[in-house]
Amino acid sequence: MRSVVSFNESWSFHEGFGQRLLDAFDGTRSVSLPHTAVELPFNYFDETLYQRAFTYQKILRWLPEFEGREVSIVFDGAMADSVVYLNGEQIVAHKDGYTPFEARLTGKLLPGDNLITVKIDGSENPAIPPFGGRIDYLTYAGIYRDAWLKVTGAVSISNIKIETANVLSDAKSVSVRCHLANPQSSGFIGTVTGSLKDSSGTVIATATADTTGEDVTLSFEDLTDILLWDISSPTLYEIVVDLKTSHGSDRLSSHFGFRTAEFTPEGFLLNGAPLKLRGLNRHQSFPYVGYAAGRSAQERDADIMKSVLKCNIVRTSHYPQSKWFLDQCDRIGLLVFEEIHGWQHIGDLEWQKESIENVRRMIERDWNHPSIVIWGVRINESLDSHDFYTETNRLARELDPTRQTGGVRYLTDSELLEDVYTMNDFILGNEELPGANRPRTALRRQQENTGLDRKVPYLITEFNGHMHPTKIYDQEARQVEHVRRHLEVLNAAYGDPDISGAIGWCMFDYNTHKDFGSGDRICYHGVLDMFREPKFAAYVYSSQCDPSDEIIMKPVTFWARGERNIGGVLPLIILTNCDEVELKYGSLIKRIGPDRENYPHLPHPPVVLDHRHFTADELGTWGLEWLDGEFTGYIDGQPVARLRLAADPLPMTLEVVADSTSLKARERDTTRVVIRALDQYGQRLPFLHDNVALHVDGPARIVGRSIVPLQGGTAGFWLEATGLTGSITVEAITSRFSPVTLHVTAV
Ligand code: GAL
Repeated sequence: MRSVVSFNESWSFHEGFGQRLLDAFDGTRSVSLPHTAVELPFNYFDETLYQRAFTYQKILRWLPEFEGREVSIVFDGAMADSVVYLNGEQIVAHKDGYTPFEARLTGKLLPGDNLITVKIDGSENPAIPPFGGRIDYLTYAGIYRDAWLKVTGAVSISNIKIETANVLSDAKSVSVRCHLANPQSSGFIGTVTGSLKDSSGTVIATATADTTGEDVTLSFEDLTDILLWDISSPTLYEIVVDLKTSHGSDRLSSHFGFRTAEFTPEGFLLNGAPLKLRGLNRHQSFPYVGYAAGRSAQERDADIMKSVLKCNIVRTSHYPQSKWFLDQCDRIGLLVFEEIHGWQHIGDLEWQKESIENVRRMIERDWNHPSIVIWGVRINESLDSHDFYTETNRLARELDPTRQTGGVRYLTDSELLEDVYTMNDFILGNEELPGANRPRTALRRQQENTGLDRKVPYLITEFNGHMHPTKIYDQEARQVEHVRRHLEVLNAAYGDPDISGAIGWCMFDYNTHKDFGSGDRICYHGVLDMFREPKFAAYVYSSQCDPSDEIIMKPVTFWARGERNIGGVLPLIILTNCDEVELKYGSLIKRIGPDRENYPHLPHPPVVLDHRHFTADELGTWGLEWLDGEFTGYIDGQPVARLRLAADPLPMTLEVVADSTSLKARERDTTRVVIRALDQYGQRLPFLHDNVALHVDGPARIVGRSIVPLQGGTAGFWLEATGLTGSITVEAITSRFSPVTLHVTAV
């Protein structure tokens, strides 16, 4: 049987690379993985800081269980251009910063200590994707995902591909292609047995085949009483494959789901039923540590997308992301558009060869995830490149005939080599260009973009973003416009049956190169800030959920007389899934339904209070007293949500909330902690720009800085377990509130 154990601990870390480092293990700077080579400030930094070579070293002591077996180290991801050495001898080089690779140590390990050296190079090597041009994100440096020590028999199962068929019939079938590894080329005969388990772990079917060394396919037919994988009930099944041979045995398993996913010219179908896709793009970056966030942070992002933002799809812009993230998408029912890495630039033929290999690596890593419904096989927003994209499409279809391909472009009339025309439509906002003289349009009709004489499967993969950057602490009017733009595009996508859905730019703000963003190395394009705290626009998405899931009622205002130009809060958008919202302002009471006039297609149009409902005088004018606003949301005539916005907000509470109050000590688990300065009614105080000093006691550390500023009334940080168990307290000290203590336990 195989053993796969964490290889994350006790790496010695150095800047630079040289022969001396190949020979010497200097355990002084011991780090654990996932690791970022350079911790960056929040913003305003020199992005070349990490664009150089770094070395990681670790001792692997010979163990008797290695005898006669295959031994390797698996790296889930390292950025980039990694070279692995064993006792000074080069074992493997892997250029791609986003997919796993394996260093095979078999036959080369010495009794006693063995020195593993990994050189990584954070410089932007123009010979490999995504580099060579300018890219609007940072790639950071380091062994930023997990590493594993893997020991198997001489022959093993290298991968399995699970394909379902007849999914919408009563009797379903599954085939499992088992790829076998036999690096020592020893002849063998063996048996492969697959067990199909339901979500409770009960074996519901088995299949067996003999092998003389070749890959084999197992078939399961006539499977009845199978539950489909759906976004509302993401039922997972598992295939466990056992290999028994004269050279030992192995076992590999994978989860999967029974579902169909199809983009058609009339929209997207999940299990045969129409589903309008509503989503956001996600980078895999975090403040300070870049890509180097571990399992729980990755899982949490998927949870935020699904249960806070209520999206049904995420695009992993612009590269394959963490397996922890994808596994969680499978578990919670969040669809995924996954794509190869790159951004606008296409390099020479060698570069393209590497990119084609990236298609293979991505698909072979991720082909069993039921959440993934489409492969992106173009370099994001690149120009047409016939031969290159003919090959990426061919390969994707050969490796995985069960999924359609897309290729994200901003080009109109671009050559459609993919199954789905996936388009970044940034038309909204173009009317503001000098001399543009065009009406405000949210999205173009598909044939205006494709230039084709027929309708094709069509998906919007980006909109907004740089057209209207918005900070969590931006003034109200700008945030209102941010909200309006997301509303308009979603409304247009819902209203056009030829559009499968729309994936906005983007989930959260991200660090970027100097050539993009607001000059401080941040693109403020998120509906969340970098700590995943919602801006108003986040509620555009969350308010589209069914009220049985959650009742949302979010007035897009700081509720102040003098924050907007000229004053007042009208027009006031209330993002909600209620039937009606009542505003009480002094003796004035208005109860209003959703604005179907302006947003007819949204599942839950916002309630918009404006001149249609109020005379200017009714809300009082400049110079009169400003009063509290009381909001009540109604469903079926019953009050279901209440909110009071203070006319005189005062700092009353410092809220310090952790996503989880328990950390797995040995995994160096992290939890996100959000701090909010709240008024007497629990609303964030958007302009309380205080500092929060953090003091940690116990086996944990703050990722980043221990003094954090409130921005838009909120601050955040990740708390990381340092390895030991015990209780942890974090004290948050500000100038305006009494100190608050957060209790967390490392177990
Ligand atoms: C797109 C690009 C994204 C991001 C976005 C900003 O052109 O694909 O990566 O830069 O613009 O709106």
